[in-house]
Amino acid sequence: MNKVGIEEIPVEGKRVFVRVDFNVPMDEQQNITDDTRIRAALPTITFLAEKGAKVILASHLGRPKGKVNLKYSLAPISIRLAQLLNKEVLMAKDCIGPEVQAQAGRLKNGEIILLENVRFHNEEEENDPKFAEKLAGLADVYVNDAFGTAHRAHASTEGIAGYIPAYAGFLMKKEVDIMGKALENPARPFIAVIGGAKVSDKIAVIENLLSKVDNLIIGGGMANTFLKAQGYEVGSSLAENDKVSLARELLGKAQNSGVKLMLPTDVVAAREFSANTPSRVVKVTEIQTDEQALDIGPESAESFAEAIHSAMTVIWNGPMGVFEMAPFAKGTERIARAMAECHGVTIVGGGDSVAAVEKMGVAEKLTHISTGGGASLEFLEGKILPGVAALQDKE
Ligand code: 3PG
Repeated sequence: MNKVGIEEIPVEGKRVFVRVDFNVPMDEQQNITDDTRIRAALPTITFLAEKGAKVILASHLGRPKGKVNLKYSLAPISIRLAQLLNKEVLMAKDCIGPEVQAQAGRLKNGEIILLENVRFHNEEEENDPKFAEKLAGLADVYVNDAFGTAHRAHASTEGIAGYIPAYAGFLMKKEVDIMGKALENPARPFIAVIGGAKVSDKIAVIENLLSKVDNLIIGGGMANTFLKAQGYEVGSSLAENDKVSLARELLGKAQNSGVKLMLPTDVVAAREFSANTPSRVVKVTEIQTDEQALDIGPESAESFAEAIHSAMTVIWNGPMGVFEMAPFAKGTERIARAMAECHGVTIVGGGDSVAAVEKMGVAEKLTHISTGGGASLEFLEGKILPGVAALQDKE
């Protein structure tokens, strides 16, 4: 990464505003159901505190639409963070204002305070310059470690960098370095596995990857649109009829660029979209008009897995089927296992595929699990993320 990192700057005695992405899933009682994103920010927080910085953490949680809503308070997160750090974490009542300013001013070296949800103010998402200046006024230095929110040009992810020196945290650097290298200078063969319901969500990703990969595997609901483009009938499967000609174009592009494009050859089909409905494995040539494909079949899963085993770099984004229903989870689970068995660089992004590798207990075996959903998708699209662009370049 061509950005200045926190290991390159003096931080002792400095007030350091650290934007993290603590937008974690919670249940109705505000219990944190997955603290991966909090754990992922620990190296930066620990480093800064140990170096004697006064650490001011900021994040959003959910989409409270500019209003104070205690359902989206970061207070439960400050408790979990304190447990993980085994260290006191102060909790502020807001993210700006005289009280917060005074609290930040009183911090001693190595102390940590978590500001309240920045999205309790409309100005955050509006990237309001005055609001960004107020946030910047709390600190001497800005550090962005919120890769998951780097695709948003908000006051705490982008605007603030216009007021105080802005550097990259360890997580930000790791995400951008690993995914950047995979895209720009991958060990080959380089394979991308793209799934999910809709082609329309992944057009830009597929277009960008087609100029980079050796092999593109397409599964999930979006494969149906590609199968249609190849002239197959997919029964009552989810398919985007208005995207069939685009899918045909992408198939042509793959062929012209020498990319091997793999689609399912068999599927698990059912008459209803339900976990309790009878299902059967069927070739893609034999899907009945009243059947819908809800997962890739075992033959496809094996041939996808074989391709993944032979890769030196694999990027996976999106499930192969309706992963949340057990009878239609096997294809996604097989891909998760194949990723773990692969000896090359393995990278996973996107909520469902990350959930699959975690459910299969193979997360430890992968090179990198991105903390970004939307952000990793935009990165794979080849977009410049505003939260990254705003950080100081190396000389
Ligand atoms: C995410 O979970 O993708 C990030 O935290 C960004 O959240 P947002 O989509 O509400 O901006």
